[in-house]
Amino acid sequence: MRMLVIGDIVGRPGRRAIKEMLSEIKDRYAVDFTVANGENAAGGRGINREVTDELLSSGIDVLTMGNHVWDNKEIFDLIDDQPRLIRPCNYPPGTPGRGYNIFETPTGRIAVINASGRVFMDALECPFYKVNEILEDLKGQWDICLVDFHAEATSEKRAFAYYFDGRVTAVLGTHTHIQTADEAILGGGTAYITDLGMTGPTDSILGMNKEQVIKKFLTQRPVRLEVAKGSVQIQGVFLEISDADKRVVKIERFSQDRKL
Ligand SMILES: [Fe+2]
Ligand SMILES: [Fe+2]
Repeated sequence: MRMLVIGDIVGRPGRRAIKEMLSEIKDRYAVDFTVANGENAAGGRGINREVTDELLSSGIDVLTMGNHVWDNKEIFDLIDDQPRLIRPCNYPPGTPGRGYNIFETPTGRIAVINASGRVFMDALECPFYKVNEILEDLKGQWDICLVDFHAEATSEKRAFAYYFDGRVTAVLGTHTHIQTADEAILGGGTAYITDLGMTGPTDSILGMNKEQVIKKFLTQRPVRLEVAKGSVQIQGVFLEISDADKRVVKIERFSQDRKL
């Protein structure tokens, strides 16, 4: 099984990067299954029906979310009916949508779990205990399990990865939009990276217009932030998983630009 997991897709430039570069990357790695974080896919904030459909028909199999999940109100009309859209699992009971799902593929059953960190983020339920509970419930139901851990603090992300090392196939960090260079297969066999990076405008501050973000820091007043324009990038990791024992054989980081 050969998979791609792609960092936060930001707005129209991020979708353009997917449209123009994903199929080439999928061909290069002979990819079977692709997961991407879509929390910023519609105008930089949240996701809507049109963008969900566009991304799910452009070669992405599953979309995960994060703290921006509710920013576009259209999500409430689609999240309960879209099994390929996963939101953080550690929201309170009764929250619409699903925090994980299992996908049947010719090479095995793939569980995808999305969880949010709590350090410098909203006070959700404990992601460590919540994912423990989910793994308990899903025992024997998957062959490959990916966790998108959407979190700010490197310490929380690494702690989470080591805590679940050997119990899931991969823990892949999202949310900071900056790709880290610490991809590794941990001692227990779990593939890990602190952050997959961002799929969106390259010349930006986390995908947003630089001047507006700088103005926000300089004035300490609210400034309307828009998605930046110009050249685009796609970032993430490729995972190769043994068909025989479902262990990760390789994790390779990729980052590709398209100059515009
Ligand atoms: Fe994001
Ligand atoms: Fe985020």
